[in-house]
Parts: sequence; C-alpha cells; structure tokens
Amino acid sequence: MSKDVFEEELKKPSIFKDESKLSIDYVPPSLPHREKELRVLVRNFKILLEKPGSKSCKILISGSVGTGKTALAKLFGKLICSEAQRRGINLHYIHINCRRDKTEFLVLKRVLHYFNPNFPTRGFSPEELLFALQKTLDSREAFLLIALDELDFYVKRSGPELLYDLTRLYEEKLNAVQRISLIGIAKDTSWIALLDSSTLSTLQQNTLFLARYNASQLKDILEMRVKEAFYEGTVSEEAISLIADIAAEWGDARYSLELLWRAGKYAEAEGEFRVLPEHVRLAKAETHPVIRREVLLDLPQHHRLLLLALARKLRKNEKAYATMGEIEELYHVICEEYGEKPRGHTQIWNYIHDLESCGIINIKLSGSGIRGKTTLISLPDVPASILEKELMTLL
Ligand SMILES: Nc1ncnc2c1ncn2[C@@H]1O[C@H](COP(=O)(O)OP(=O)(O)O)[C@@H](O)[C@H]1O
Ligand SMILES: [Mg+2]
Repeated sequence: MSKDVFEEELKKPSIFKDESKLSIDYVPPSLPHREKELRVLVRNFKILLEKPGSKSCKILISGSVGTGKTALAKLFGKLICSEAQRRGINLHYIHINCRRDKTEFLVLKRVLHYFNPNFPTRGFSPEELLFALQKTLDSREAFLLIALDELDFYVKRSGPELLYDLTRLYEEKLNAVQRISLIGIAKDTSWIALLDSSTLSTLQQNTLFLARYNASQLKDILEMRVKEAFYEGTVSEEAISLIADIAAEWGDARYSLELLWRAGKYAEAEGEFRVLPEHVRLAKAETHPVIRREVLLDLPQHHRLLLLALARKLRKNEKAYATMGEIEELYHVICEEYGEKPRGHTQIWNYIHDLESCGIINIKLSGSGIRGKTTLISLPDVPASILEKELMTLL
C-alpha cells in the first residue's frame, strides 16, 4: 500500500495534469454562467441554419476584460459550425483578433488564407481582396460567420470601413444570397456612435452585454478548470475561494485563471503537491489585473520593446513620468540589445498611442515649460520592476 503511494507520487510529473487547459487560447467545452448569453446567440443566428443565405446577421458582444467575450464567441462558432455540417450547410466560423490584424488588408488576408493558404495577397488592394472573398464564397457555396474581436481597438485606429465593406459586399446586391454574418466583440462601445446610421442601429439593437462575474461565479469557473488542468486533490478549496475573491474585484475570469496558473507554478517550484492560499498570495503579488501576461503576449515586438524602455526608465529615475524623448532614446539602446531595427519616430508615436488605448500607459502633456509642451508618459497601475521582469521573459 505505502509502496503504491510512494510509486504513484514518484510517477507524478507535476501537480499539473494538463497545463494547456489554462492557456489563453483554450476554449472550454462549456461556459458556466454564460448559458443565457449562449441562448441569445443561438436565437440570433438560428436563421443561418434554417434558411441559409436569406439574411445576414450581426451582433455586438461587449463587456469588460475577462467576462468571456472571446470564449463565448469561439464556443458558439464551434457549435454552430458542427450543427451546420450535420445539416449539410457549408458554414465557416473565423475568429479574427483585430489587435493583431489591424488593417483591412490584414483582416481580409487572414480570411482568404483560411480558405486558401496559398492565396497570393501581395500587391492586392482591399477592394480586390473583397472581390476575391466574394468569388471564393460564391464558388464554394460557403457561408461565413466572422468574429471581429477587439473591434473597438480596430475602429478607433483604422475607422469603420471594414465593417461597411463586409456588410455591403452582399447586401447591396438585389436578391443576392447573403453569405457573410458578423459578430463584433468590443470592450467598450463608445465608438459605435461614429458609425453610419444603418450600421449603428443594427448594432444598437443587437448588443449582448456580458456582466462581470461575481466571486461565486468565478469559483464555479475555477473549479471546472481545476478539474481539467490539475491532478485531483492538488488544489485546496481555500486557494480556489481566495482566487475567486481576489478576481471578483474586477469580475475578471482571465485574471482568476492566471492567478490559478501562477499559484500552481509557485507550489510546483516549492516542491509542494498542493496549491495553498499562500501560493495564491505569492501569485497575486506579481500579477497585475491590467497588465497581465496575456495582454503582453498580444503586443507586437516593438510595442514590447518600447514598453520595456518605459519600464526601465521609470524604475531607474525617481520620477513618475518619462518624456517621449527619453523613452525613444532608451528604446534605441534596447533595440540594439535585442538585435532589432528601431522604428521611426512616427511609428513610435503610433505604438505609444496603441499602448495608451490598451490602458497600459497614461499620456499627458506637461504644462508650458521652458521648451513648450512635452509629452509625459507614465505607468498608472503596475510597478515598473514587475513589468520589466515580465517583458524580459517574453522578449
Ligand atoms: N463562463 C466561463 N466559464 C469558463 N471559463 C470562462 C468563462 N468566462 C471566461 N472564461 C475563461 O476566462 C478567460 C477569459 O475569457 P475571455 O473570453 O478571453 O474574456 P474576454 O474576451 O471577455 O476578455 C478565458 O480563458 C476563458 O476561457
Ligand atoms: Mg477577448
């Protein structure tokens, strides 16, 4: 008996049964506390299964970070496609992260490459790509449900043309088979006021708002994930409750899962076979709800390099703000360190504004000093040293 236990323990590679179940891209087979919202999606898009081609459907999913917007859309996409397949309907779901694919060209390229990985997109204009998409869908008699994730980020930066183009592609043709439906996903919805009146009213009438999770909902979500990711009995009840309570302040499931993962890592590093509240406290001390690993993972290389410049600058000098000039100078040094070619001044400006719109940094103008106004940049929420450490592991 004792020998069995001994050998069983020896065989255990870690407390994690499957760490990938805690990764950003994993979509669980069910989403507790989002059943009602899933029903709304089914009702909204049912017609794609019942009368494919008769109508184009659009919906906007909104809600703060970690409320399950992305997961809900992806799960729904999977479910509707498998039902379509069962019914012999050629429906495809494509999930686009508009923070990564941040121009119309890149979005359309991604869609075309989904259908044909060898499609030569170079040298094409967005209009030509749209036309190619239409031809592809028509010739395959395919229907497309596109989810445009981080759409607020995209529209604020590149404007709403992409939305119009995708909508008009089929709607303007008389009696055309409607092949494209849309799910927009956005953290905030202030930008929709900028849309033309018809798109605006469609989205206003079809907005699905996901509320923040409370502690008991987060606990259910965590418990489900613990079963998938950890060996049985390796995460204490107390630890789960503590994580749920901490993350409930933001209602953020993503933050709770990150705390769980890190707490597991702490336990593992200490050679413990159980995740305890102390591991959660340790995890919390080095995780920040706004600037988490996932947010940083989403950032392109030069955004990260710039952010690293800011973090270093702020850590080293005793000021609350760094000037644009200081950051740019240090950014050049860091680029050299990492063997990257520094981007030009205008690009750097754009990146700084991107970082601001993600909520990672704050920008303000100094009062009229000796040399007129300068741009001052700060890190509102996270200690520079934590940010620097995180970035170094990613770069
Ligand atoms: N109801 C839920 N049940 C299980 N996991 C969830 C639920 N809601 C969110 N998650 C998980 O929390 C994390 C964050 O969710 P996500 O969809 O990325 O949030 P958002 O896109 O709103 O920022 C993901 O790992 C997701 O799988
Ligand atoms: Mg998301």
